[in-house]
Amino acid sequence: MNNSDCIIKISNLAMNFHTPAGDIPVLNGVNLEIHKGESLAILGPSGSGKSTLLFIVGLFLTPTAGSYVLNGREIIDIDEKNKAEFRRNYFGFVFQSCNLIENSTVFEDLEYPLIYAGIPPRERKERIDEVLTRVHMGHRIYHRTNLLSGGEQQRVAVARALVNRPHVILADEPTGQLDSENSQNIMDLFLECISDKKTALILVTHDHKVADRCAKTCYFNGGTLTEVA
Ligand SMILES: Nc1ncnc2c1ncn2[C@@H]1O[C@H](COP(=O)(O)OP(=O)(O)O)[C@@H](O)[C@H]1O
Ligand SMILES: [Mg+2]
Repeated sequence: MNNSDCIIKISNLAMNFHTPAGDIPVLNGVNLEIHKGESLAILGPSGSGKSTLLFIVGLFLTPTAGSYVLNGREIIDIDEKNKAEFRRNYFGFVFQSCNLIENSTVFEDLEYPLIYAGIPPRERKERIDEVLTRVHMGHRIYHRTNLLSGGEQQRVAVARALVNRPHVILADEPTGQLDSENSQNIMDLFLECISDKKTALILVTHDHKVADRCAKTCYFNGGTLTEVA
């Protein structure tokens, strides 16, 4: 693998949350390198900092210290405006809590990022149909998101993360509410997305069957990440 394939290189990352009750150290020297076409599963106990790391990678949180090189560019100190642009251009994020837009339909929820990206209406509809079919939610396209079951919301959240064809898929326990057949279906979809060798996948999971389908597995504990052989 050559260096130009490296899409994310994170070194010596630290994160302390400052709270009135004192500092909460969560990440303490995290190193992470991921290449285009690679898949990484992150395992680890609850509260160990997995979501925090994913939020930092997805540029929703700024770390306390460290280096973050995205596609060859150091971005640890970029301003909020650039951050928002990188976030939009690079990442598809599946949040642990789904975070679907309240009072909208599945279609509207998925259309939002495409409008932002300047995709014309007809292509928007085509892309939404395609990705919803892939997560077996095509029959719910005009359903209100708040009427969906937990597992259905999770599948829509996955579709929304993929509809913009991101360079990096970041998924925080994306199969936590799914049965094993739907979990494997989501993994099929993720792995197909990265098979273009341009996209990378980082996912957090508790499910070893899901982790086993990724090329690499890391274990999070004590604020650092260790690769599992
Ligand atoms: N905004 C915050 N302020 C203070 N503490 C936080 C904040 N976000 C997360 N934490 C703490 O950081 C630790 C790691 O949280 P998290 O990354 O969500 O863990 P995981 O995803 O591995 O379960 C937890 O102890 C949590 O309480
Ligand atoms: Mg979490």
